[in-house]
Amino acid sequence: MNTNNSTERLAQARALFPGVTSQIYLETSARGLLPKVALEAAMHFYEAAVRGDAKETGEAYLAAERVREKFARLIGAAPDEVTYTRNVSEGLNMIVASLPWQAGDNAIVCRDIEHPNGVYSLYNMRDRHGIEVRMVDATPDLAMPVDEIAKRIDSRTRLVMMSSVTFATGARTELARMGKICRERKVTLLVDGAQSVGALDLDVHATQVDALAVGASKYLCGPYGLGFLFVRRELAETLRPAYLGRFSINLGNAHEGVQGSEKYQLMPGAQRFDLGSANYPASNAIDASLDILQSVGIPVIENHVTALAGHMDAGLRELGIPLISGSVARHRAHIVVAGWKNPPAEGAALIADLSRHFAERQMRVSERLGRLRFSFHLYNTSDEVDAVLAAVAEWPKLLELATLRA
Ligand SMILES: Cc1ncc(COP(=O)(O)O)c(C=O)c1O
Repeated sequence: MNTNNSTERLAQARALFPGVTSQIYLETSARGLLPKVALEAAMHFYEAAVRGDAKETGEAYLAAERVREKFARLIGAAPDEVTYTRNVSEGLNMIVASLPWQAGDNAIVCRDIEHPNGVYSLYNMRDRHGIEVRMVDATPDLAMPVDEIAKRIDSRTRLVMMSSVTFATGARTELARMGKICRERKVTLLVDGAQSVGALDLDVHATQVDALAVGASKYLCGPYGLGFLFVRRELAETLRPAYLGRFSINLGNAHEGVQGSEKYQLMPGAQRFDLGSANYPASNAIDASLDILQSVGIPVIENHVTALAGHMDAGLRELGIPLISGSVARHRAHIVVAGWKNPPAEGAALIADLSRHFAERQMRVSERLGRLRFSFHLYNTSDEVDAVLAAVAEWPKLLELATLRA
């Protein structure tokens, strides 16, 4: 893919995703499409395993290290600031569980729109170490409340946890503003990047994010069971991981099987969170997926997906569909959510009917919390948005929904 034309690069990338051919796929916020080349790359490892050639010290190990570098580049980090995880939840827990909590410390989170997986990791620290979990309310347009969080930070606040884009309403977080406040107040900022990394541009250092957990299966277009955790080097080196394994320890040139000294040294940076063998078939797969994202370029993808969401937002508003996303410009991103904050009684049934109407037309959207979520990635097109809007226009219950008041 060596053309400079963004439209052409997007079209070439789309051709690598067989999942777009027989349907309109607007469900990346639930799970992304896997490109065929990623399947082939995973199969390459499994085929080697069938022959007995899948050595964890060979090709697969080198590929996994290459992937670490590629992911680091994607978010503006250094390779030794990235470790592998199984999913977002594990990445969040790895940070939360390795902070030196003392009873009476607190962590701040916006329960209304934060994913429950992250919130449970904080409840666990409350129940194990006696910390306070401070809940703040979302902004009126259901985005992360940066100012409110800033007001709740005090001398015992150790952590702020938040999503870069919330799964509930698609609102984008003002991360750079939150990052600056947290750094000034010496509070760790832990970000759940599940709904943005791969679609929206992020430089973790420029934004002053301390740690970022991402899963491969949504906007990175990779398989389940693989994720990444970025930990800023200076922070990582103050942390003691909850688990240690041979890859967490700096063995120098010694073979991993040699029993090291009791006075072991942790690996530098985030690599102290590495434990044992990686998920090599999955890292082979994501290697191929990351190449596709990089060949288009994240800034190009961001422009594309936010334009598609803008198109969908305007079209749905014109048809009278109630939206809870998009009312505040700085919170708009690549996800459009139809429905209400507090749905009227008949609302949920109408949303479910619209969802069925889409399913009958091979249009894939996600129903979440009684709302419909349309999410865009590099493989979607403006023609697809027009087709979905045309389907809404011919939906028999359109008038009923458009005139329903929350
Ligand atoms: C914002 C957010 N965080 C976390 C998760 C859960 O991720 P995982 O299953 O990888 O832990 C999701 C999944 O939908 C999500 O949307």
